[in-house]
Amino acid sequence: MIIEKVNSLKGEIEVPGDKSISHRAVMFGSLAEGTTEITHFLQGADCLSTIRCFRDMGIVIQNDIETNKILVRGKGLHGLKQPTDILDVGNSGTTMRLMSGILCGQRFDVTMTGDESIQKRPMGRVITPLNEMGAFITSIPGNGCAPLRIKGHKSSLTGIHYESPVASAQIKSAILLAGLYADGPTSVSEPYLSRNHTELMLRMLGANVESKGNTATILPAPRLHAEKIYVPGDISSAAYFIAAGLLVPGSEILIKNVGINPTRDGIIRVCNMMGADIVIENIRNTDTEAIADILVRHSDLHGTEIGGSIIPTLIDEIPIIAIMACFAKGTTTIKDAAELKVKESNRIDVMVKNLTQMGANVTATDDGMIIEGGKALHGATIDSKLDHRIAMSFAIAGLVSERPVEILGAECVNISYPNFYQELKHLIR
Ligand code: S3P
Repeated sequence: MIIEKVNSLKGEIEVPGDKSISHRAVMFGSLAEGTTEITHFLQGADCLSTIRCFRDMGIVIQNDIETNKILVRGKGLHGLKQPTDILDVGNSGTTMRLMSGILCGQRFDVTMTGDESIQKRPMGRVITPLNEMGAFITSIPGNGCAPLRIKGHKSSLTGIHYESPVASAQIKSAILLAGLYADGPTSVSEPYLSRNHTELMLRMLGANVESKGNTATILPAPRLHAEKIYVPGDISSAAYFIAAGLLVPGSEILIKNVGINPTRDGIIRVCNMMGADIVIENIRNTDTEAIADILVRHSDLHGTEIGGSIIPTLIDEIPIIAIMACFAKGTTTIKDAAELKVKESNRIDVMVKNLTQMGANVTATDDGMIIEGGKALHGATIDSKLDHRIAMSFAIAGLVSERPVEILGAECVNISYPNFYQELKHLIR
């Protein structure tokens, strides 16, 4: 994929459904009693991996790819069947970690694996707390990574309180899901509040989940009931168009129906901190999640400092924030973001290496990066490392670089945004 400088971007766009919420809707719908109807579902490869895994465990899931409507014929908390083969999560960390929490409460044995990237990502972070609850999970290679073997459980798990060393919704969710199958309350505290879609959706489906500050507590559930779930537009996908609108001179983009859950809206707060012309309009609430339209216009940005509690609310947006920082006046410092090293790629290394190649003034730190903005970027060939968020970030950089940007492995956007390049093209004026 080659991306070249454009004059301006104008128009209206609706980004696909939220990845985190789409995964959860299929998983929790499978465990509920009755038919869960999901609308505006994300047809990204990661969410399709979740569908495949639950179909392999006997759940009937109808997916209408024309309308993005899904019907999940839930079989209740104890209705999953032992799969005949190894479960394959593909590239999806959310699928592997959340399913670990669900599977350790089942009565059958199962093995789970995924692609090359997933086999390098740390799973010890869920294995340790889940085994503390009485689960039997082992990393087959013995290095804390997949493939994972999960042994079936004849009795209940034990409810625990877990102090998570990292703010991670995947860890928190795995433990809360195991808590559905425990003999008493299960709670998780984290250093900063991570995305709370699991808590909100489980509560809507009838589970007893309480959140106080950075602690979430769940009681074992007798049953979950099916509901209709509308998936808001993914703010992590909207972030690329927010950045594009701000960076390309003369641009004005309206992004409709975006989820603005406060545990996910750090990108909007950072845009405001950088002096962006960004307006949040038409705010409304669904049963669980807030939605709004986002209007962005080209802006002169300035640098900022990002760290602490805002980090989990924008963890997936740091690559595109780094691109914005290159075009901002002054210094941008990103800290407390060591988690970037264990995403689909090492996003500190990959961003710094590729930005340096484009002529940016950027330095890697142990837990983030420092970017001196205001230096024009020239073109380069970018290795995406098959990380969707790296590919999309550099596509946006290409719109405002002196020379074209060539992206290797560009098709990996399929993980979270299959029509990304086509929709970007529609906005070019
Ligand atoms: C996700 C949580 C985040 C995020 C990932 C999706 C989720 O990971 O980076 O893309 O759906 O729970 P961590 O919770 O591990 O930070």
